[in-house]
Amino acid sequence: MSDKRVQSDSMAELKARHSSKWRRYAPDVLPMHVAEMDFQIAEPIKAMLHDFVERNDLGYLGPIPELGEAFAGYAKRHWDWDVNPRNFKIATDVAVATVEFLRAISKPGERAVISSPVYSSFFRWIGEVGLTLVDAPLRHNESAEDAPHWHLDLQAIEDAFAAGAKYYLMCQPQNPVGRIHTREELIALAELAEKYGVVVISDEIHAPLTYRGEKFVPYLSVSDAARRTGVCITSSSKSYNLAGLKAAILVWDSPEIAELVKAIPDDTHWRSSILGAFSMTVAFNDCDEWLASCLATLDENRHHMLAELHAKLPGVVAHLPQNGYLSMWEVSALNLGDDPAGAMLRDAKVAVVPGPDMGGANYKNFVRFNFACSKAQITDAIERIAAIRK
Ligand SMILES: Cc1ncc(COP(=O)(O)O)c(C=O)c1O
Repeated sequence: MSDKRVQSDSMAELKARHSSKWRRYAPDVLPMHVAEMDFQIAEPIKAMLHDFVERNDLGYLGPIPELGEAFAGYAKRHWDWDVNPRNFKIATDVAVATVEFLRAISKPGERAVISSPVYSSFFRWIGEVGLTLVDAPLRHNESAEDAPHWHLDLQAIEDAFAAGAKYYLMCQPQNPVGRIHTREELIALAELAEKYGVVVISDEIHAPLTYRGEKFVPYLSVSDAARRTGVCITSSSKSYNLAGLKAAILVWDSPEIAELVKAIPDDTHWRSSILGAFSMTVAFNDCDEWLASCLATLDENRHHMLAELHAKLPGVVAHLPQNGYLSMWEVSALNLGDDPAGAMLRDAKVAVVPGPDMGGANYKNFVRFNFACSKAQITDAIERIAAIRK
């Protein structure tokens, strides 16, 4: 990829983009909400897309064994996880994979557990398939200065399982807090899942964006109990910024889960995009250098964001994420009323995700901020918010 660091497009180029991030709000609003990056995508993926278009190769998606091989190679290189390259199924995106899997294996009214604060769509997916949502919130350890601050609450999870829940929808790493659940937590979770007959759906879409010095732990890698209880759902869409291309994979490693996955309709494959599936193959095979460069930029950005918060929005509480480009801020010090995200949008022209979208009223003093942009944009957003604090 040469010596050029992955970086943001210019503001003029960004404003000309067609994606939701740049179309949802008026042009004077800084979009720091939806999980898209402002960066240039990897050259090998661009080349593949150009090549498919040049050769008029835009038909339906057929067999693609090379995708399983690519993911298995990636998992081994980055996480020392042995994946059977044949144990995967394709779906349109992580949302469709999760919803179709749950639809295929569940009965309406059964209970599905999540741990808030978490990606807002989890709530909708569970509702869409008629399941009843149970929240076992993360524990928040504000006093620990240097430690990760959000943890799985295994007791709350066990209570929910013991009360009859059948599914646990996990976010590993956890959007929006950037927390990687540890091997020990996952081993304990898998034991609980096995004890209570719960299926764990591990959404690992953010995993490749793990910072140097941190270690991502795939759920299926931790134990036989995890393999017997869990499916991993992932995609290159988040880490390589390809959300519009539409493809994701479900990965499993036990006869028990293979049996469940069979219930997903074969049509899910046909509803996925040829460009999405082949670009995912290229991402997992050929883009390690781009990813390292992207992470180097994000690493600078996460430190820049915290330094700017400290200097210009003292009192706002945020932590260095272990993974990803999203940050959860506790903003009560700003005195922006009951709807801080609404005030930021209305008065500062900065769009962030409101805390309640990620788990209800408990998070009314939180917002989620996306820092996958230029440093200047991070500073601009923070200065705009500083100008409206009361
Ligand atoms: C945890 C998580 N899962 C899934 C998605 C969406 O993935 P997809 O576009 O493949 O449905 C996101 C998007 O931000 C996410 O953060």
